[in-house]
Amino acid sequence: MNSLLQNLFQKFIKQKKFEENKYQGFSDAAICLFNALEKKGEAKVKDFLIKDFKGLPVSKEDEEYAFNYFINNSVILSATVANYGTSVTTEFLYDGLASPSLIDNYFLQCEAGRALKSRLITIKEQLNKIINEYSRKNGKILIGNFGSGPGRDVINVLSSCHNNGNIKAIHIDKDVNSLKRGKRMAMNMGVGQHIEFVKESFLKYETEKKFDIILLIGIICPLNIENSVVVLQKIKKFLKEDGVIIASTATKKMGAEDPFTYYLMKWAADWEMFFKDEADLKKIYENAGYQWKGQFTEPLGFHMMGMGKPFVNE
Ligand SMILES: C[S@@+](CC[C@H](N)C(=O)[O-])C[C@H]1O[C@@H](n2cnc3c(N)ncnc32)[C@H](O)[C@@H]1O
Repeated sequence: MNSLLQNLFQKFIKQKKFEENKYQGFSDAAICLFNALEKKGEAKVKDFLIKDFKGLPVSKEDEEYAFNYFINNSVILSATVANYGTSVTTEFLYDGLASPSLIDNYFLQCEAGRALKSRLITIKEQLNKIINEYSRKNGKILIGNFGSGPGRDVINVLSSCHNNGNIKAIHIDKDVNSLKRGKRMAMNMGVGQHIEFVKESFLKYETEKKFDIILLIGIICPLNIENSVVVLQKIKKFLKEDGVIIASTATKKMGAEDPFTYYLMKWAADWEMFFKDEADLKKIYENAGYQWKGQFTEPLGFHMMGMGKPFVNE
Protein backbone atom coordinates (compact mmCIF):
# COMPACT_ATOMS: atom_id res chain seq x y z
CA MET A 1 0.00 0.00 0.00
CA ASN A 2 1.48 3.41 -0.89
CA SER A 3 1.74 6.09 1.82
CA LEU A 4 -1.20 8.15 0.50
CA LEU A 5 -3.51 5.15 0.69
CA GLN A 6 -2.11 4.24 4.10
CA ASN A 7 -2.85 7.77 5.38
CA LEU A 8 -6.36 7.67 4.02
CA PHE A 9 -6.94 4.25 5.56
CA GLN A 10 -5.68 5.40 8.98
CA LYS A 11 -7.88 8.50 8.78
CA PHE A 12 -10.86 6.30 7.94
CA ILE A 13 -10.14 3.98 10.91
CA LYS A 14 -9.74 6.99 13.25
CA GLN A 15 -13.06 8.47 12.10
CA LYS A 16 -14.78 5.08 12.42
CA LYS A 17 -13.42 4.65 15.95
CA PHE A 18 -14.58 8.17 16.86
CA GLU A 19 -18.08 7.42 15.53
CA GLU A 20 -18.16 4.12 17.43
CA ASN A 21 -16.99 5.71 20.71
CA LYS A 22 -19.01 8.90 20.37
CA TYR A 23 -22.00 7.50 22.24
CA GLN A 24 -20.01 5.36 24.65
CA GLY A 25 -21.09 5.92 28.23
CA PHE A 26 -24.41 7.53 27.23
CA SER A 27 -27.73 5.99 28.30
CA ASP A 28 -30.21 4.56 25.78
CA ALA A 29 -32.44 7.61 26.37
CA ALA A 30 -29.55 9.96 25.53
CA ILE A 31 -28.66 8.00 22.38
CA CYS A 32 -32.34 8.17 21.30
CA LEU A 33 -32.23 11.94 21.84
CA PHE A 34 -29.04 12.26 19.75
CA ASN A 35 -30.52 10.18 16.92
CA ALA A 36 -33.76 12.20 17.00
CA LEU A 37 -31.82 15.49 16.91
CA GLU A 38 -29.80 14.24 13.94
CA LYS A 39 -32.99 13.20 12.10
CA LYS A 40 -34.48 16.67 12.69
CA GLY A 41 -31.39 18.23 11.09
CA GLU A 42 -30.11 19.44 14.49
CA ALA A 43 -26.74 17.67 14.47
CA LYS A 44 -25.21 20.96 15.67
CA VAL A 45 -27.20 20.72 18.92
CA LYS A 46 -26.27 17.06 19.34
CA ASP A 47 -22.55 17.70 18.71
CA PHE A 48 -22.55 20.59 21.17
CA LEU A 49 -24.12 18.43 23.91
CA ILE A 50 -21.71 15.54 23.42
CA LYS A 51 -18.65 17.78 23.37
CA ASP A 52 -19.72 19.99 26.26
CA PHE A 53 -20.70 16.99 28.39
CA LYS A 54 -17.27 15.46 27.73
CA GLY A 55 -15.51 18.72 28.62
CA LEU A 56 -14.25 19.28 25.06
CA PRO A 57 -13.96 22.83 23.69
CA VAL A 58 -17.21 24.35 22.32
CA SER A 59 -17.96 27.73 20.78
CA LYS A 60 -20.26 30.29 22.45
CA GLU A 61 -22.23 30.48 19.16
CA ASP A 62 -22.94 26.75 19.27
CA GLU A 63 -23.88 27.00 22.94
CA GLU A 64 -26.33 29.84 22.29
CA TYR A 65 -27.83 27.91 19.38
CA ALA A 66 -28.25 24.77 21.52
CA PHE A 67 -29.69 26.70 24.49
CA ASN A 68 -32.23 28.51 22.31
CA TYR A 69 -33.18 25.24 20.64
CA PHE A 70 -33.76 23.65 24.06
CA ILE A 71 -35.92 26.38 25.54
CA ASN A 72 -37.91 26.72 22.30
CA ASN A 73 -38.57 23.01 22.14
CA SER A 74 -39.07 21.82 25.70
CA VAL A 75 -41.77 22.95 28.11
CA ILE A 76 -40.04 21.00 30.87
CA LEU A 77 -36.75 22.77 30.36
CA SER A 78 -38.18 26.24 29.77
CA ALA A 79 -40.28 26.00 32.98
CA THR A 80 -37.15 24.96 34.90
CA VAL A 81 -35.03 27.73 33.35
CA ALA A 82 -37.69 30.30 34.30
CA ASN A 83 -37.80 29.10 37.91
CA TYR A 84 -35.63 26.21 38.93
CA GLY A 85 -37.11 24.36 41.87
CA THR A 86 -40.65 25.01 40.59
CA SER A 87 -43.23 22.27 41.04
CA VAL A 88 -44.24 22.88 37.39
CA THR A 89 -41.21 20.75 36.46
CA THR A 90 -42.02 17.95 38.90
CA GLU A 91 -45.69 17.97 37.86
CA PHE A 92 -44.72 17.51 34.18
CA LEU A 93 -42.60 14.53 35.17
CA TYR A 94 -45.32 13.04 37.40
CA ASP A 95 -48.17 13.50 34.98
CA GLY A 96 -46.47 13.29 31.56
CA LEU A 97 -47.32 15.34 28.47
CA ALA A 98 -49.92 14.64 25.79
CA SER A 99 -47.48 15.05 22.89
CA PRO A 100 -43.97 15.54 24.22
CA SER A 101 -41.28 17.09 22.03
CA LEU A 102 -38.15 15.02 21.50
CA ILE A 103 -36.41 16.84 24.36
CA ASP A 104 -39.37 16.47 26.72
CA ASN A 105 -39.53 12.84 25.72
CA TYR A 106 -35.90 12.54 26.85
CA PHE A 107 -36.73 14.00 30.28
CA LEU A 108 -39.71 11.66 30.66
CA GLN A 109 -37.74 8.57 29.57
CA CYS A 110 -34.35 9.13 31.22
CA GLU A 111 -33.61 7.35 34.49
CA ALA A 112 -33.73 10.50 36.61
CA GLY A 113 -37.12 11.42 35.10
CA ARG A 114 -38.56 7.96 35.69
CA ALA A 115 -37.14 7.89 39.22
CA LEU A 116 -39.02 11.06 40.10
CA LYS A 117 -42.30 9.51 39.06
CA SER A 118 -41.52 6.36 41.01
CA ARG A 119 -40.69 8.51 44.06
CA LEU A 120 -44.28 9.75 44.00
CA ILE A 121 -45.62 6.18 43.85
CA THR A 122 -43.29 4.94 46.61
CA ILE A 123 -44.19 7.85 48.90
CA LYS A 124 -47.87 7.13 48.40
CA GLU A 125 -47.35 3.46 49.39
CA GLN A 126 -45.22 4.26 52.43
CA LEU A 127 -47.40 7.14 53.57
CA ASN A 128 -50.42 4.85 53.51
CA LYS A 129 -48.60 2.40 55.80
CA ILE A 130 -47.41 5.15 58.16
CA ILE A 131 -50.92 6.65 58.35
CA ASN A 132 -52.42 3.24 59.18
CA GLU A 133 -49.86 2.68 61.93
CA TYR A 134 -50.42 6.14 63.43
CA SER A 135 -54.20 6.12 63.21
CA ARG A 136 -54.34 2.77 65.06
CA LYS A 137 -52.47 4.45 67.95
CA ASN A 138 -53.67 8.05 67.83
CA GLY A 139 -56.92 8.24 65.84
CA LYS A 140 -56.78 11.66 64.22
CA ILE A 141 -53.82 12.60 62.04
CA LEU A 142 -52.47 15.97 60.96
CA ILE A 143 -50.06 15.97 58.00
CA GLY A 144 -47.84 18.94 57.16
CA ASN A 145 -46.69 19.03 53.54
CA PHE A 146 -43.83 21.56 53.63
CA GLY A 147 -42.84 22.90 50.20
CA SER A 148 -45.81 20.92 48.95
CA GLY A 149 -46.16 22.25 45.42
CA PRO A 150 -49.77 21.24 44.66
CA GLY A 151 -49.25 18.33 47.06
CA ARG A 152 -50.17 15.54 44.68
CA ASP A 153 -48.59 12.97 47.05
CA VAL A 154 -50.96 13.72 49.96
CA ILE A 155 -53.94 14.31 47.65
CA ASN A 156 -53.40 10.85 46.11
CA VAL A 157 -53.14 9.22 49.53
CA LEU A 158 -56.24 10.95 50.89
CA SER A 159 -58.30 10.08 47.84
CA SER A 160 -57.40 6.39 48.11
CA CYS A 161 -57.84 6.17 51.90
CA HIS A 162 -61.13 4.62 53.05
CA ASN A 163 -61.15 6.19 56.50
CA ASN A 164 -59.81 9.61 55.49
CA GLY A 165 -62.32 11.33 57.80
CA ASN A 166 -59.65 11.29 60.52
CA ILE A 167 -56.96 12.87 58.35
CA LYS A 168 -56.30 16.56 57.82
CA ALA A 169 -53.40 18.10 55.92
CA ILE A 170 -51.84 21.53 55.63
CA HIS A 171 -49.93 22.23 52.41
CA ILE A 172 -47.45 25.08 52.75
CA ASP A 173 -45.72 26.60 49.75
CA LYS A 174 -44.38 30.02 48.86
CA ASP A 175 -45.67 29.64 45.29
CA VAL A 176 -49.32 30.65 45.16
CA ASN A 177 -49.88 29.12 41.72
CA SER A 178 -48.84 25.67 42.88
CA LEU A 179 -51.31 25.97 45.79
CA LYS A 180 -54.15 27.07 43.49
CA ARG A 181 -53.37 24.07 41.35
CA GLY A 182 -53.36 21.81 44.42
CA LYS A 183 -56.70 23.20 45.60
CA ARG A 184 -58.27 22.40 42.21
CA MET A 185 -56.69 18.94 42.19
CA ALA A 186 -57.95 18.19 45.71
CA MET A 187 -61.51 19.38 44.93
CA ASN A 188 -61.62 17.33 41.73
CA MET A 189 -60.46 14.26 43.63
CA GLY A 190 -63.08 14.79 46.33
CA VAL A 191 -60.68 15.56 49.19
CA GLY A 192 -60.68 19.37 49.16
CA GLN A 193 -62.36 19.54 52.58
CA HIS A 194 -59.39 17.74 54.20
CA ILE A 195 -56.67 20.14 53.05
CA GLU A 196 -55.77 23.69 54.01
CA PHE A 197 -53.45 25.56 51.64
CA VAL A 198 -51.10 28.13 53.13
CA LYS A 199 -49.01 30.53 51.06
CA GLU A 200 -45.92 31.06 53.18
CA SER A 201 -42.28 30.12 53.44
CA PHE A 202 -42.18 27.16 55.80
CA LEU A 203 -39.12 28.82 57.34
CA LYS A 204 -41.35 31.74 58.48
CA TYR A 205 -44.51 29.74 59.13
CA GLU A 206 -46.07 30.16 62.59
CA THR A 207 -48.69 27.89 64.12
CA GLU A 208 -49.66 26.40 67.47
CA LYS A 209 -50.57 23.16 65.70
CA LYS A 210 -48.36 20.10 65.98
CA PHE A 211 -48.12 17.62 63.14
CA ASP A 212 -48.08 13.83 63.29
CA ILE A 213 -46.36 13.57 59.93
CA ILE A 214 -44.31 16.20 58.12
CA LEU A 215 -43.28 15.72 54.49
CA LEU A 216 -40.29 17.55 53.10
CA ILE A 217 -40.10 16.16 49.59
CA GLY A 218 -37.79 17.61 46.93
CA ILE A 219 -36.60 20.39 49.25
CA ILE A 220 -33.17 19.51 50.64
CA CYS A 221 -31.90 17.92 47.39
CA PRO A 222 -29.81 21.00 46.45
CA LEU A 223 -28.66 21.72 50.02
CA ASN A 224 -25.38 20.63 51.57
CA ILE A 225 -25.33 18.80 54.91
CA GLU A 226 -25.06 21.95 57.10
CA ASN A 227 -27.92 23.78 55.37
CA SER A 228 -30.09 20.65 55.41
CA VAL A 229 -29.50 20.43 59.20
CA VAL A 230 -30.63 24.06 59.60
CA VAL A 231 -33.88 23.37 57.70
CA LEU A 232 -34.68 20.22 59.69
CA GLN A 233 -33.86 22.00 62.97
CA LYS A 234 -36.27 24.86 62.18
CA ILE A 235 -39.09 22.45 61.44
CA LYS A 236 -38.71 20.32 64.57
CA LYS A 237 -40.92 22.56 66.70
CA PHE A 238 -43.93 21.70 64.50
CA LEU A 239 -43.69 17.95 65.09
CA LYS A 240 -45.43 16.01 67.88
CA GLU A 241 -43.13 14.08 70.22
CA ASP A 242 -44.02 10.81 68.52
CA GLY A 243 -44.41 12.41 65.09
CA VAL A 244 -42.33 11.55 62.06
CA ILE A 245 -40.65 13.77 59.49
CA ILE A 246 -40.00 12.29 56.06
CA ALA A 247 -37.38 14.22 54.07
CA SER A 248 -36.23 13.17 50.61
CA THR A 249 -32.87 13.64 48.96
CA ALA A 250 -31.38 12.85 45.56
CA THR A 251 -28.80 10.11 46.07
CA LYS A 252 -25.18 9.73 44.96
CA LYS A 253 -26.47 6.85 42.78
CA MET A 254 -28.42 9.38 40.71
CA GLY A 255 -25.29 11.46 40.18
CA ALA A 256 -23.27 8.40 39.19
CA GLU A 257 -25.83 6.65 36.98
CA ASP A 258 -27.53 9.50 35.14
CA PRO A 259 -24.86 12.20 34.86
CA PHE A 260 -26.12 13.39 31.44
CA THR A 261 -29.53 14.48 32.77
CA TYR A 262 -27.80 16.26 35.62
CA TYR A 263 -25.45 17.91 33.13
CA LEU A 264 -28.42 19.09 30.99
CA MET A 265 -30.27 20.61 33.95
CA LYS A 266 -27.16 22.23 35.36
CA TRP A 267 -26.04 23.59 31.99
CA ALA A 268 -29.42 25.00 30.96
CA ALA A 269 -31.12 25.87 34.26
CA ASP A 270 -28.30 26.11 36.81
CA TRP A 271 -30.07 23.31 38.65
CA GLU A 272 -27.60 22.19 41.32
CA MET A 273 -27.89 19.03 43.37
CA PHE A 274 -26.01 17.98 46.46
CA PHE A 275 -26.18 14.22 46.13
CA LYS A 276 -26.28 12.39 49.48
CA ASP A 277 -26.18 8.83 50.74
CA GLU A 278 -27.73 7.14 53.76
CA ALA A 279 -24.86 8.12 56.06
CA ASP A 280 -25.28 11.79 55.04
CA LEU A 281 -29.03 11.71 55.60
CA LYS A 282 -28.67 10.01 59.00
CA LYS A 283 -26.10 12.63 60.00
CA ILE A 284 -28.49 15.43 58.95
CA TYR A 285 -31.30 13.98 61.06
CA GLU A 286 -29.10 13.36 64.10
CA ASN A 287 -27.36 16.76 63.95
CA ALA A 288 -30.77 18.42 63.67
CA GLY A 289 -31.97 16.68 66.86
CA TYR A 290 -33.95 13.73 65.53
CA GLN A 291 -33.83 10.05 66.28
CA TRP A 292 -33.06 8.26 62.99
CA LYS A 293 -35.84 5.80 62.12
CA GLY A 294 -34.40 4.50 58.85
CA GLN A 295 -35.05 5.22 55.19
CA PHE A 296 -36.77 3.92 52.10
CA THR A 297 -35.99 4.49 48.42
CA GLU A 298 -37.90 4.30 45.16
CA PRO A 299 -37.00 1.28 42.98
CA LEU A 300 -34.15 2.97 41.07
CA GLY A 301 -32.52 4.16 44.30
CA PHE A 302 -32.18 7.73 42.97
CA HIS A 303 -34.27 9.21 45.80
CA MET A 304 -33.94 8.32 49.46
CA MET A 305 -36.58 9.25 52.03
CA GLY A 306 -35.25 9.51 55.57
CA MET A 307 -37.50 9.13 58.60
CA GLY A 308 -36.95 10.55 62.05
CA LYS A 309 -38.77 11.55 65.20
CA PRO A 310 -37.78 14.39 67.52
CA PHE A 311 -35.11 13.37 69.96
CA VAL A 312 -36.48 13.73 73.47
CA ASN A 313 -34.20 13.52 76.53
CA GLU A 314 -35.61 10.77 78.79
C1 LIG B 1 -39.41 20.60 43.53
S1 LIG B 1 -40.89 21.22 44.16
C2 LIG B 1 -41.45 19.80 45.06
C3 LIG B 1 -42.91 19.85 45.34
C4 LIG B 1 -43.47 18.66 46.11
N1 LIG B 1 -42.98 18.59 47.47
C5 LIG B 1 -43.22 17.36 45.40
O1 LIG B 1 -42.48 16.52 45.93
O2 LIG B 1 -43.73 17.17 44.30
C6 LIG B 1 -40.32 22.28 45.47
C7 LIG B 1 -41.42 23.15 46.05
O3 LIG B 1 -40.94 23.70 47.27
C8 LIG B 1 -41.35 25.04 47.37
N2 LIG B 1 -40.45 25.70 48.33
C9 LIG B 1 -39.10 25.74 48.32
N3 LIG B 1 -38.63 26.39 49.40
C10 LIG B 1 -39.72 26.76 50.13
C11 LIG B 1 -39.90 27.44 51.37
N4 LIG B 1 -38.87 27.92 52.07
N5 LIG B 1 -41.17 27.63 51.81
C12 LIG B 1 -42.23 27.18 51.11
N6 LIG B 1 -42.12 26.53 49.93
C13 LIG B 1 -40.89 26.31 49.45
C14 LIG B 1 -41.29 25.55 45.93
O4 LIG B 1 -42.11 26.70 45.75
C15 LIG B 1 -41.80 24.32 45.17
O5 LIG B 1 -43.19 24.36 45.02
